[in-house]
Amino acid sequence: TRVLFATSEVYPLVKTGGLADVSASLPEALCRLNYDVHILLPGYPDAIKAARAAGSRRKCRFRIGQYEVSLWRTRLPGTAVTLWLVDCPPLFDRPGNPYQNEKGQDWWDNAHRFELFAKVGAMMATGEVGLNWRPDLVHCNDWQTGLIPVFLEHCPQRPGTVFTIHNLAYQGLFSHETFRALGLPDSLWHWDQLEFHGQLSFIKGGLVFSDRITTVSPGYAREIQTPEFGNGLDGLLRHRQSRLTGILNGIDTRVWNPEDDPELAFHYGPGHLKNKAQCQAHLQRELGLEVNGGPLLGFIGRLVGQKGVDWLIEVMPELLERGCQFVLLGSGEAGYHETLMELARQWPGQMSLTIGYDEGLSHRITAGCDMFLMPSRFEPCGLNQMYSLRYGTVPVVHAVGGLSDTVQDPEEAGLIKANGFRFSEASAQALLAAVTRALGYFRSRKQWRRLQENGMAADYSWKQRAHDYSDLYQSILKERET
Ligand code: ADP
Ligand code: GLC
Repeated sequence: TRVLFATSEVYPLVKTGGLADVSASLPEALCRLNYDVHILLPGYPDAIKAARAAGSRRKCRFRIGQYEVSLWRTRLPGTAVTLWLVDCPPLFDRPGNPYQNEKGQDWWDNAHRFELFAKVGAMMATGEVGLNWRPDLVHCNDWQTGLIPVFLEHCPQRPGTVFTIHNLAYQGLFSHETFRALGLPDSLWHWDQLEFHGQLSFIKGGLVFSDRITTVSPGYAREIQTPEFGNGLDGLLRHRQSRLTGILNGIDTRVWNPEDDPELAFHYGPGHLKNKAQCQAHLQRELGLEVNGGPLLGFIGRLVGQKGVDWLIEVMPELLERGCQFVLLGSGEAGYHETLMELARQWPGQMSLTIGYDEGLSHRITAGCDMFLMPSRFEPCGLNQMYSLRYGTVPVVHAVGGLSDTVQDPEEAGLIKANGFRFSEASAQALLAAVTRALGYFRSRKQWRRLQENGMAADYSWKQRAHDYSDLYQSILKERET
């Protein structure tokens, strides 16, 4: 079975969040199940550079409207997975990240950029670009690929389509003028098509027109059908309930392995955790923290409302007073940067803040901390709690979405099964109460070790989870045969 996996980011070429990790590790896992998965990615500068360096070449050239487009065929670095790059320099050869300029503003022409990307995806899917490879299925991810199922809708021999929601809060909303400028047919401007409260919604393309919808955890699949988490789309998702499933993300257990992680100076694993303390001391020295045996609490992520950064900021002074250390890595909203920088100034040696993006440091934090905090308001899946669990770092999480699917609390599951701490109420106070409970357990070495070992023992890889996608693909193909 041939699958075209369309995505706007993929590790290690371009990454702003978990989508990039999943876009690399899921196709690889599917290839291991004998799927012929090809990834389709916009030709960002770093991706084209990597393709050139690998000696890859352009396979074809064509025009779409005013744009000259070419397709590169290469491999995702470090894997055997085929990667196609949509090369269109006026749209994709830009500094900054895939969606924003260096000042953090959305590119003014994002609708045009991802419409063109979707068009190329649809053309590859129908064989229009004349490659000798045509997919049986197109797997779309998030709003940037939402128009692919729309363009395929009326094609007679179209492949099956899957749309995966990684985050329903990002919908790709644009004005009616943009809708006109894209030249989309008027019939699509309707509440049960692409129109959403007077705006053009890219994500609705995926939600309305794809054969199946998935999201990245069973918990989030339920939540998004409620007004609280549905971002205004819960009605549509309830309507398509029978086509919607939640499949928990896996992680790349080769990139994230405390036994041989090249970013770590010391290695450890299940049953031999001794060196974890060395990793902690090493991290404390690296970041100018007092080397004191913790408790060291970590946070890595986008500094935005979704991640509950405001709750974290609210409880930090009290926890710092009580002697906890903090290590934070992330970037996002300027307001959070300033508040956190002020806190770091007040608590030298006890709080470390790194604003920016640092892959290596993220591994050392995951290994070096005692607890990892994820007070997310909502979390479709979340990867960091799984990285932490694998590294014997105990997560403290808000019980939402994928976090509640992966973290078990001793008070609900018993210490025999527990691997972390969770809180249900959406508030800073509830976060503080959960950390306080966790600190209680931390004082008992034996109990803490139990939690760590439970976390490290579980399988977070794609091995099983990729089968769920496989089953889904097969059911679509079967349905389309009849
Ligand atoms: P989301 O996709 O919502 O940002 P996830 O938990 O799914 O959240 O994935 C985030 C990914 O990005 C993880 O691999 C995390 O380690 C990584 N990450 C986020 N911010 C940073 C950062 N500042 N430096 C390094 N890695 C980061
Ligand atoms: C999104 C979500 C995150 C999820 C990731 C990968 O960015 O916010 O929870 O883990 O996608 O699916």
